Amino acid sequence: NLGTITIPVIVHVLYNSAAENISDQQINSQIAVLNADFNASNNDINQVPSLFAPNVGDVDIQFTVDRVIRKSTTRTSFGTNDAIKFNSQGGSDVVTPDTHLNMWIGDIGGGILGYAQFPGGSTATDGVVVGTAFFGTSGTATAPFDGGRTMTHEVGHWLNLRHIWGDGRCNRDDFVSDTPRSDRPNYGCPSFPTTHCRTTDMTMNYMDYVNDDCMYMFTNGQTERMRALFAPGGARDTF
Ligand code: ARG
Ligand code: ZN
Ligand code: CA
Repeated sequence: NLGTITIPVIVHVLYNSAAENISDQQINSQIAVLNADFNASNNDINQVPSLFAPNVGDVDIQFTVDRVIRKSTTRTSFGTNDAIKFNSQGGSDVVTPDTHLNMWIGDIGGGILGYAQFPGGSTATDGVVVGTAFFGTSGTATAPFDGGRTMTHEVGHWLNLRHIWGDGRCNRDDFVSDTPRSDRPNYGCPSFPTTHCRTTDMTMNYMDYVNDDCMYMFTNGQTERMRALFAPGGARDTF
């Protein structure tokens, strides 16, 4: 096994107003959530129902802020076409993506909380994007997405996780054996048990679409899928 994996982070802050130039403290609040969630030490982990308690995964990844890049931009929103990742489009160019997780924080617009690039894509756009209103747990973070879980979800994608319902009908797979099948995302804060495809949905998984307060676990299978990327020959073995 690889032991604890350390991922240094480059944070790009794109701001069009003073308020969007978020504080170091807000950035640190986000990194603290990642370090809790990726070590199963989040303080809501005890809310996992006993049905799913054996499935709780400790990913054992530590995130550290290597550098914060702050850039004023004339753009009021960036959309999801990766403009935020390029100086030439009012964004900020990626920095050493083979050894660092790049996070871009700015106004995405369109009610989009965040988006991520899966492993194996272009290095120029590798990383995750999270809206200023959904980043960290203080400052500009807005309920019910002020728990830092949008970033947990996006980093899950960046580490090869699919949505828990497989983005399809009951038989569409998320390629993880210990997440129950489902045919749809869940929203808000579902009551337990919520049943689709004749099994109890794991609505509290970070890769569902529920509110920040209502997601609090990865599974062992998801943990294996993420950590496999860092083994020799894996898509993120340069970290
Ligand atoms: N919709 C976004 C995505 O699919 C993020 C969803 C995050 N959910 C949350 N409760 N913060 O990547
Ligand atoms: Zn997603
Ligand atoms: Ca599954």
